[in-house]
Amino acid sequence: MQVSVIILAAGQGSRMNSDLPKVLHPLAGAPLLHHAMRASISLAPDRTIVVVGHGAGAVTKAALSENPEALIVTQAEQLGTGHAVREALPALDGFTGKVIVLYGDTPFITPETLEKLAASPADVTVLGFHTDSRPKRYGRLVMEGETLLRIVEYKDATEAERAITLINSGVVACDAAVLATLVAGLKNNNAAGEYYLTDIPAAARARGLTATAVTCEEAETLGIDTRTGLAEAEAVFQARARREALENGVTLTAPDTVFFALDTWIGRDATIGPNVVFGPGVTVESGAEVKAFCHLEGCHISRGAVVGPFARLRPGAELAEDVHVGNFVEIKNAILGEGVKVGHLSYLGDADIGDFTNIGAGTVTCNYDGVMKHRTVIGKRAFIGSDTMLVAPVTIGDGALTGSGSVITDDVPPEAIAIGRARQVTKPGLAPKLFEKLKAIKAAKLKGQS
Ligand code: UD1
Repeated sequence: MQVSVIILAAGQGSRMNSDLPKVLHPLAGAPLLHHAMRASISLAPDRTIVVVGHGAGAVTKAALSENPEALIVTQAEQLGTGHAVREALPALDGFTGKVIVLYGDTPFITPETLEKLAASPADVTVLGFHTDSRPKRYGRLVMEGETLLRIVEYKDATEAERAITLINSGVVACDAAVLATLVAGLKNNNAAGEYYLTDIPAAARARGLTATAVTCEEAETLGIDTRTGLAEAEAVFQARARREALENGVTLTAPDTVFFALDTWIGRDATIGPNVVFGPGVTVESGAEVKAFCHLEGCHISRGAVVGPFARLRPGAELAEDVHVGNFVEIKNAILGEGVKVGHLSYLGDADIGDFTNIGAGTVTCNYDGVMKHRTVIGKRAFIGSDTMLVAPVTIGDGALTGSGSVITDDVPPEAIAIGRARQVTKPGLAPKLFEKLKAIKAAKLKGQS
């Protein structure tokens, strides 16, 4: 059975009180929209259609960055979830199979639940959850045995219907041809004056088709409406990510202080110390160690590497096996070969560092001339003295050495020593004379003031 997915993401999310469209607010370092899109990947959808409206340009960009093949549909006016699906129908043209409708602001639906929906034999299948909390704003599923008679929106429900504990998550699965027919017939004669997607189970039954519900845990259907809800969702995500990392054989010495991104990947037997933050795009191989207080994004850490404490790896930082990055070191867009050591207080940006090179404390690649970025290339087994300024573009050959405190502006050939600093001058016995002179100046000044 082929599946296509429609993700509704046109709403403003006014309760977020934000200029940013709701689906672009980040959860675990990725827009909410990406979470919904990623959950549907396991269905290998024939088409992924994203309905955009508020902030259409930015939401389109975000959708295409996650899936360049996504089809974007614009819903110019937000006239309800049924209307949003109706606008998406032309993008389904020629598709025969099942369509699953998801919300862009509901990030925790699992692939297993989506597979359950896709496998349902009914013409219309709605995802529901049980709760005794009598939530406002959510629709109620009115069941008769296995049959879903209809969904009633909270605003339109009677007191008896509001007491129903089986709640509509909003997710629907429906045969494509059936969906087109049912959605075309929707009316907006309800309390909100909207075209409700939730009217399709009753419409299906009126045509002699079948409608049913499948259920999942309430936590999966958590939708985000407010900043508080977003913060709560972040906590839910982090708790799950920490549990999964531990189950996958990663040592977290203080799990509650480690923060993961949606796509963080950490190998078995890696060790992550306290207060480590993973931004998007980080991979850590088995057996690597990240010590306390590191901030990592867009980087790769190979087996045997040790990072931190207090290190910052920015996008494009590639650490080969057994690299050592120590405290107060920042690395950006730089490739560090096997066994490279950069132990203290350094900045390596736009650089290639050969295997087993040692970078002394306080080294800086001066990569920016105020207009353009330039690269620093250092060969294998080189020794960069402490406090070397490498003014890029510059190349240091294999086995070369730079003197401490050097400002290196010219290329250094392999095995050469380069020293670029003022020569030291030493004057024997001069220090006491200098102090006497300074004391006399100070005394004269004090006398002038009295
Ligand atoms: C909807 C359901 C309700 C369910 C609840 C679960 C309907 C009528 N009601 O209500 O039964 O319990 O979800 O969260 O479907 N959207 C558009 N275009 C529109 C309107 C909405 O794209 O014209 C998108 C929104 O951006 C959002 C999603 O659809 O991602 C849900 O819309 P929202 O207005 O939040 O629906 P609810 O009122 O929560």
